[in-house]
Amino acid sequence: MELLFLLFTVVLSLPSLSSSSHQALSASPCDFTAIFNFGDSNSDTGGLSAAFGQAAPPNGESYFGGPAGRYSDGRLVIDFIAESLGLPYLSAFLDALGSNFSHGANFATAGSTIRPQNTTLQQSGYSPISLNVQYYQFNDFHRRSQIIRNQGGVFKGLLPKAEDFLRALYTFDIGQNDLTAGYFLNMTTDQVRAYVPDVLDQFKTVVKYIYDQGGRSFWIHNTGPVGCLPYIMDNLPITAGQVDKVGCAAPFNEVAQYFNLRLKEAVVQLRKELPFAALTYVDVYSVKYDLISQAKKHGFMHPLQACCGHGGKYNYNKHLGCGSKIKVNGKEIMVGKSCKDPSVMINWDGVHYTQAANKFIFDQIVNGAYSDPPIPLKMACHKH
Ligand SMILES: *[C@@H]1O[C@H](CO)[C@@H](O)[C@H](O)[C@H]1NC(C)=O
Ligand SMILES: *[C@@H]1O[C@H](CO)[C@@H](O)[C@H](O)[C@H]1NC(C)=O
Ligand SMILES: *[C@@H]1O[C@H](CO)[C@@H](O)[C@H](O)[C@H]1NC(C)=O
Repeated sequence: MELLFLLFTVVLSLPSLSSSSHQALSASPCDFTAIFNFGDSNSDTGGLSAAFGQAAPPNGESYFGGPAGRYSDGRLVIDFIAESLGLPYLSAFLDALGSNFSHGANFATAGSTIRPQNTTLQQSGYSPISLNVQYYQFNDFHRRSQIIRNQGGVFKGLLPKAEDFLRALYTFDIGQNDLTAGYFLNMTTDQVRAYVPDVLDQFKTVVKYIYDQGGRSFWIHNTGPVGCLPYIMDNLPITAGQVDKVGCAAPFNEVAQYFNLRLKEAVVQLRKELPFAALTYVDVYSVKYDLISQAKKHGFMHPLQACCGHGGKYNYNKHLGCGSKIKVNGKEIMVGKSCKDPSVMINWDGVHYTQAANKFIFDQIVNGAYSDPPIPLKMACHKH
């Protein structure tokens, strides 16, 4: 116990050392030595798969040659972020097999919300690993990784150094499921809007906890146009008057934009409360909406249709999702098949984006064009 306490104070005493470099308005790129990610399926690299069973084929087919814990045919935005910082892809914290956390860990799981859910995964489809749980796991990882690393041997090459927690980029992409959770409980848009402030209070609490543990650089994605996704358009009631010129369901996008407005305010508030933190708010919504509404211009087709799925207006069927099989005459056949060319499609499975779309999104956001403040990813440790 005494050893544990000692290690923890050593960790906590380091931030003052590094905060001066963060404050400096130098133009040198940040030396991010690790990434710690928090989120949902938009950035899950294997968390839900480790705990509840692998994402089925054809997930992963375009890049990993098979399922890789991601809900996409290939890489996610978080993978492109890691690549561009010269860091390896993030292992999921929950993945006990083959994981290497020397340059960070991923706490995201598909179906995660910011607020704790009161239902099980089986009941509602939402992950029990909500943002507060992801924080408990991070806290545990932070403390115990240092004790174990100090034992030396193989662990030295598998776990981050104490200073990596101070020099890491902390990334967030979460909130979409908090909005859809209310709708799937048959709440009205007004009822969903009413709880958004509570969701963001809980988000702020977690950012502050991470800051208290030495986190200084935060890269925060806002939430996307959920009203353009087949699983929303196919499952929730929409009147003709609610469909926008692109074909998306406007009420759900308006709620997403309201969430984003409040998220941006939360980030402004956090900048006041956390004097040594560099917080970057990234408008992923605008990039995704632009991509969907101008698909052709960007080299994509059928922006509202899933690539991998089965039938219906959106090639999406909630009972026969991507990778699903049925038995015909005792023989299993896959009906949730991939389309011919995922590289020209935006939507992968009705809920998530294809690797090609994720690459497009990453390319748009990496240089700061959609960020507040407008600084590139590699400069996201600098306060403005
Ligand atoms: C879960 O239940 C608690 C207690 O009734 C409530 O405060 C909380 O808002 C609920 N969570 C969600 C996500 O609805
Ligand atoms: C973990 O990954 C890092 C970076 O890719 C590598 O240098 C290290 O050797 C790996 N550790 C082990 C034990 O393989
Ligand atoms: C929501 O409404 C639909 C249609 O009326 C119903 O089938 C479903 O059971 C309701 N869901 C909940 C959680 O109340």
